[in-house]
Amino acid sequence: MEILRFAHIILRDFVVHKVVVRKIATGAWTLSVNPGRSACLNGSLQLDRNISRSTFSVEPSVKESTALIYRCHGEPSQVVTLETLKLPPLRSTSVLVKMLAAPINPSDINMIQGTYAILPDLPAVGGNEGVGQVIEVGIEVKTIKVGDWVIPRDAGLGMWQTAVVLSADDLVTVPSDIPVLSAATLGVNPCTALRMLSDFEDLKPGDTVIQNAANSAVGQAVIQIAAAKGVQTVNVVRDRPNLQKLTDGLKAMGATCVITEETLRRPEMKEIFKSYPRPKLALNGVGGKSATELLRHLQSGGTMVTYGGMAKQPVTVPVSALIFKNVKIRGFWVTQWKRDHKHDDEALHSMLEELCTLIRTGKLSSPACTQVGMLDFHKALHSAMKPYTSMKQVLVM
Ligand SMILES: NC(=O)c1ccc[n+]([C@@H]2O[C@H](COP(=O)([O-])OP(=O)(O)OC[C@H]3O[C@@H](n4cnc5c(N)ncnc54)[C@H](OP(=O)(O)O)[C@@H]3O)[C@@H](O)[C@H]2O)c1
Repeated sequence: MEILRFAHIILRDFVVHKVVVRKIATGAWTLSVNPGRSACLNGSLQLDRNISRSTFSVEPSVKESTALIYRCHGEPSQVVTLETLKLPPLRSTSVLVKMLAAPINPSDINMIQGTYAILPDLPAVGGNEGVGQVIEVGIEVKTIKVGDWVIPRDAGLGMWQTAVVLSADDLVTVPSDIPVLSAATLGVNPCTALRMLSDFEDLKPGDTVIQNAANSAVGQAVIQIAAAKGVQTVNVVRDRPNLQKLTDGLKAMGATCVITEETLRRPEMKEIFKSYPRPKLALNGVGGKSATELLRHLQSGGTMVTYGGMAKQPVTVPVSALIFKNVKIRGFWVTQWKRDHKHDDEALHSMLEELCTLIRTGKLSSPACTQVGMLDFHKALHSAMKPYTSMKQVLVM
C-alpha cells in the first residue's frame, strides 16, 4: 500500500515537472522561481474536477490553457505562477470556453492567501469571476451554444486562464451586447449591490442609503443602481490627496453626497441629515470604527448589512443602537444567494437582465478598470492590493 502511494506521488510530480520543462523549452516565458514553493503542493492540477462524469468525451479543439496557478496559500506575489496546462477532454455535458477578461477582486486575493470562507483544493487556478466565449459544446448541452458569452455560476472555478473546460451547469449565459468589461465584472459586485438594495429594506424614491468603501466596485454599483431607483446615497470614502477628483467621479455616477471617514465622525453630519432623510439602510464593506459610525446615522429600525471587512476589524454595535433604535444587523454573501437559488434560474436570470438593462441604458457602467495582459500578472496583482487606487485590475486574455 505504502509503495503504491509512493509511486502515485512520483507520478504526480512527474506530470508537473513535464509541464515546467516543456514550458521552459518553448521559451514562451520564464518560469518565475517561487521562494515559497518548497512548502507548496507539487501535484498536477485536476482541471476536470467540476465536470460530471459521462462516457462521451472528445479532445477539445483548444488543447492547452495559459493559467495563473497557486500551489499553496500565501502572498500572491510569492505563490502565483503562470503555467501551461493541458485541457481535459470535452465531455457530453461540458463546454469549452475561451476566456476574454477576468478581474482581480479582494476575494481572489483572500482565496490565494487562504483566508476566504471557501478555498478550492490546491493546486488551483485563481479568479472567481470573468467572462468567456463558448467555442465548443458537448452533445448533451442544451442551455448554452457556441458563440455565447458565459460567466461562472459559483466561486472558485478558476477564471484566470486563457481557456477552460467546465460543466455547462457551472456557467450562466450573459448577453453579448454589453461591454466586455461590464460582462467580466457583472456576476459579483453589481449583483451584490442590487440584492442589498432590494432584499433588506423597502426603499422608495427619496429614501437614503449610507455606505462606506463607496469607491469600491460594490460601492460604485450601489451608487448607480440606487440613483436609477431615485434613492439617495451618502457615500463614505477614505481621505486622499486627490479627494476632489474622486468625489467628482462618484457624483457623476449619481452619488448624492460624498464624505470622508473623518467627516462621518464630526457633528456636521447633523447638517447633512437636514437635507436628506436619515438612512434606512447602511452598507458596510469595511468593519471596525467605520461600521460603528455608519450605525450612528441609521434611522430607528433601520438595517446595516455587512458584506465586506476591508479593515479586517470586527463590527462593534453600540448598545444604544440596539436598545433605543432597534437597528437590525445583517450580513450578505452573494455566493450563498446564488447557491440558495441554484434551482431557481428565473431569479438569477431576472437579476442579470435587470443589471444588463441598466448597462444598456447607460445607468450602470463597469468600475474604472486597468486592463492587463496575463504576462503582466505580477504588476496586476501588486496594483490590485494597493490602497487608494479606485481602479479594478482586469486580466485580458
Ligand atoms: N459579501 C459579498 O457577497 C461580496 C460581494 C462582492 C464583494 N465583497 C467584498 O466587498 C469588498 C469590496 O469589494 P470590491 O471588489 O468592491 O473592492 P475594490 O473595488 O477592490 O475596492 C476595495 C475598496 O476597499 C477599500 N479599502 C481597502 N482597504 C481598506 C481599509 N483598510 N479600510 C477601509 N477601506 C479600505 C478601498 O478604499 P481605498 O480606495 O481608500 O483604498 C476600496 O474602496 C471586499 O471586502 C469584497 O470581498 C463581498
